[in-house]
Amino acid sequence: MTPFAHRLAAWQARHGRNHLPWQSDDPYRVWLSEIMLQQTQVATVLQYYPRFLARFPDVASLAAAADDDVLALWSGLGYYSRARNLHHAARQIMGEHGGQFPRDRAGLETLKGVGRSTAAAIAVFAYGQKEAILDGNVKRLLARHAGIYGATDQPATLAALWHEAEARLPDDPATLRRYTQGLMDLGNSICTRSRPHCDACPVAADCYAYRRDETAALPEKRAKKTNPEKHTVMLLARCGDRLHLYRRPDHGIWRGLWSLPEYDTLAAADAAAQALGTVSARETLPTITHKFTHYTLHIAPLAVRIAAPVSPADWLAQEQALAKGLPAPVRRLIEKLRAAA
Ligand code: ADE
Repeated sequence: MTPFAHRLAAWQARHGRNHLPWQSDDPYRVWLSEIMLQQTQVATVLQYYPRFLARFPDVASLAAAADDDVLALWSGLGYYSRARNLHHAARQIMGEHGGQFPRDRAGLETLKGVGRSTAAAIAVFAYGQKEAILDGNVKRLLARHAGIYGATDQPATLAALWHEAEARLPDDPATLRRYTQGLMDLGNSICTRSRPHCDACPVAADCYAYRRDETAALPEKRAKKTNPEKHTVMLLARCGDRLHLYRRPDHGIWRGLWSLPEYDTLAAADAAAQALGTVSARETLPTITHKFTHYTLHIAPLAVRIAAPVSPADWLAQEQALAKGLPAPVRRLIEKLRAAA
């Protein structure tokens, strides 16, 4: 049988994604895409990536940017530590590497926010170096194909997966790029979490899980941690077309983003509304649920109209507000309100 990597690379050439805007040998473009793709689907990243690249076409322009501008372009992608790390790493490259990207995986791994798999993806795509990726999709694919049991967050399981990932690498740089993209594409379209499309898989013939009908059992599930639920009331105060927003502190959740003030109770939010001026209209809106990695947040919005504001400060025009870095649920709320107006 043809080696695993060659079957996968040949499949990628015919069925894979070959027109993604970050497919190039420019380490900056590849790095930016890999960071955006860490927790976000391709379809979503495609909406943000060109805009970000147009505003910051190279590492020097990103390093020179203001925090607020970077966060504004990231706004809606979520997991903002990625944007802060990206910005930090751009400054590392300018300050410690003379503006040149590190030239191998070990060097790339010294950049903030770049782990082993991301460093390997950049080394493969930008430099054609023989390095193994192991993201969530590849873990699933290899656990099935090689028959690796154990939860994928266990050190012994991870070590076995890394070993498989390295052992399967092809030598030739062109094949290596196709193979690496092929792993991502196969994991995304064929070797899916539930109901994989094994009939269309180029490596089903020697797949452990397929042959034993164990694709549903592999990879083994991680022990489920209970996700706490939290509740908050957000005050959405409007005065004409202006909104009451504030910039969140540089620590904690949504740090550095612009947001709506939060209260533990509706009564506290009402009191805060009255402190802003004369309340001429008041409406509670349907609760919004936002999932974080470690908990679920239920947001109860209180929308009020303020007729005579006590202080003209802290009010932003809607267009100004939407140009800021806003948490995704806050942006959705403001846009929904604007559409209803
Ligand atoms: N996910 C992470 N990196 C990717 C890439 N280069 N193409 C498609 N999906 C990805």
